[in-house]
Amino acid sequence: MQRTFAKVLNIEQLTSHYFLITLMAPQLARTVQPGQFLHVRTGEQLDPLLRRPFSIHDWHSGEGTMQLLFQVKGKGTQLLSRKQKGEQLDVLGPLGNGFAITKKKGKALLIGGGIGEAPLWGLARTLKEAHWEVTIVLGAAKQTLLARHNDFSQWGETYIATEDGSVGFKGRVTNLLPLVAAEHLDQVYACGPKPLLAALYTWTNSNNLPLQVSLDEVMACGMGVCLGCVQPVGRKEAPVLAKVCTDGPVFSAEEVVWDD
Ligand code: FES
Repeated sequence: MQRTFAKVLNIEQLTSHYFLITLMAPQLARTVQPGQFLHVRTGEQLDPLLRRPFSIHDWHSGEGTMQLLFQVKGKGTQLLSRKQKGEQLDVLGPLGNGFAITKKKGKALLIGGGIGEAPLWGLARTLKEAHWEVTIVLGAAKQTLLARHNDFSQWGETYIATEDGSVGFKGRVTNLLPLVAAEHLDQVYACGPKPLLAALYTWTNSNNLPLQVSLDEVMACGMGVCLGCVQPVGRKEAPVLAKVCTDGPVFSAEEVVWDD
C-alpha cells in the first residue's frame, strides 16, 4: 500500500449516475489484485474530511493506469466527478483483500448489482486472460443504474436484468439466474447491495456452489485502525468481528453472518 498523487488522465460521465475516471499511478497499478480498492481524498478542503473507498475497476501495469467507476451519491463523489484532466488525486492503495482465483482454469459466474459491477470488470478481464470461461449477470433497478453492461460481453456471455424492464430481462437478478447460470460452475463472485448478496448466498448454498462476495461498508481509515467497518463473521451463535477494509472487502460468503 502506498500514498501517491495520481494524475487524472480522463473523466467521463457514462450515465446520469455513473462516472469513469482514469488515473496515472504506475507504482499502484503494478500490484493490484481484482477486488481491491483505493482510498481517495476527494476534496481539497477539510470537508469532506475522510477519504472515500472506491473499488478498482481496471488497471494496466504496463501503461501504469488505473480506473475507478463510481456513482455520485454524496458530497465526496460529487467533488470527484468534478475533477478535471491533469489534476492530481491523493490516493492510498491498493488496499484490502481482493477476489481469490482458486484454480488455474475453470468456469466462473460473476454477478453485479448496480455499482457492484465496478470491481467485476477487472476480475472478468483477469479470469478471461487466464482462460476461464466467464458468465456475467448484471442487474439494477433501471438502465441508468448500469454503466458498462454493453461492454462486459468482451469478457464473457453477459445477461442483464432490470426491475423496470428498461433493458434486458424484466425482474431481479435472482429471478434471471436460474435461467442463465451455466452448469458445473467452479466459482461464483458477486458484488452489490447486501440483500442481493444474502439472496445469492441462499441460491449458491442450495446449489452447492462456492461464492465470494465483496462487501460495501462505510470506511473511515481504510487501514484497520478505526473499527468503523466491522462485519460479523464466523459462527452465528458466536460471531467475531472482521474489518471489511483489511480482512475484506472480499469474503467467502460462508464466513459472513447474514441477517435473517
Ligand atoms: Fe477503519 Fe476499516 S475503515 S478499520
